[in-house]
Amino acid sequence: MRYFDQYPAVTTGEKDTKLGEEPHIHPSCRIKDSKIGGWTALGANTFLVESSFGDYSYTAGNVQIIYSEIGKYCSIANSVRINPGNHPQWRVTQHHMTYRRKHYGLGAEDDKDFFQWRRDHRCVIGHDVWIGHGAVIMPGVQIGTGAVIGSGAVVTKNIGPYEVAVGVAAKVIKKRFDEATIGKLLASEWWNWDRATLEERFEDLLDLEKFLASPALEKPGVLRDIDIAAV
Ligand SMILES: CC(C)(COP(=O)(O)OP(=O)(O)OC[C@H]1O[C@@H](n2cnc3c(N)ncnc32)[C@H](O)[C@@H]1OP(=O)(O)O)[C@@H](O)C(=O)NCCC(=O)NCCS
Repeated sequence: MRYFDQYPAVTTGEKDTKLGEEPHIHPSCRIKDSKIGGWTALGANTFLVESSFGDYSYTAGNVQIIYSEIGKYCSIANSVRINPGNHPQWRVTQHHMTYRRKHYGLGAEDDKDFFQWRRDHRCVIGHDVWIGHGAVIMPGVQIGTGAVIGSGAVVTKNIGPYEVAVGVAAKVIKKRFDEATIGKLLASEWWNWDRATLEERFEDLLDLEKFLASPALEKPGVLRDIDIAAV
């Protein structure tokens, strides 16, 4: 049996890559009509279609994101699918020839109304959301800032901020913090810090008590009530 300290000996993988304002996109990714923020990393075989992908968010690889808004600082594990398209169950046949007509020589144009129906069911993922391995986020679902989606979950209903949801269909099992803490975190909107503030206050993000005790949180208006649906 051989011991490997490291193989390959010199790694050139994504983890060694220094990120920056320019998105880091693996050459095998396919992207269409989408916006991607800075300090982002799209792992191998990520598909991003008619979506936005916020600053500092990343996918591990083999991820498909269609018709979705992804906030900032989201961690999206391998084999996650966000917004798998539904088929038209109400037609005689739900086969995709009914809308991908050009492909089958059954029409000069594809079924625009059908694709618009899919577009109308966008997924909206907040900031700092962690989506575990192989999770599926169904069409039209909204996931609040700070939420956790367990590996293998199928999320069919909206998940609130800082909630932890697992299973098929996903159910909320707990919240990461108490309500007061969640309110303060949402009010802080730390994910909107500019780069200079992030560098300056990075250590605060590692220590909840220190973060909540920060005088910056006490400025008027910061501890206002939060409209959770808007986050
Ligand atoms: C959701 C998750 C974060 C919860 O972790 P945790 O807070 O430590 O929670 P626990 O392990 O104590 O589990 C709490 C309960 O949920 C259940 N549970 C945990 N994860 C689950 C999952 N993915 N699916 C179904 N049930 C799950 C546990 O069995 C436990 O049930 P019980 O109370 O009946 O005993 C974690 O289990 C998970 O799924 N992490 C994702 C890991 C991943 O995919 N990483 C990819 C790289 S980013």
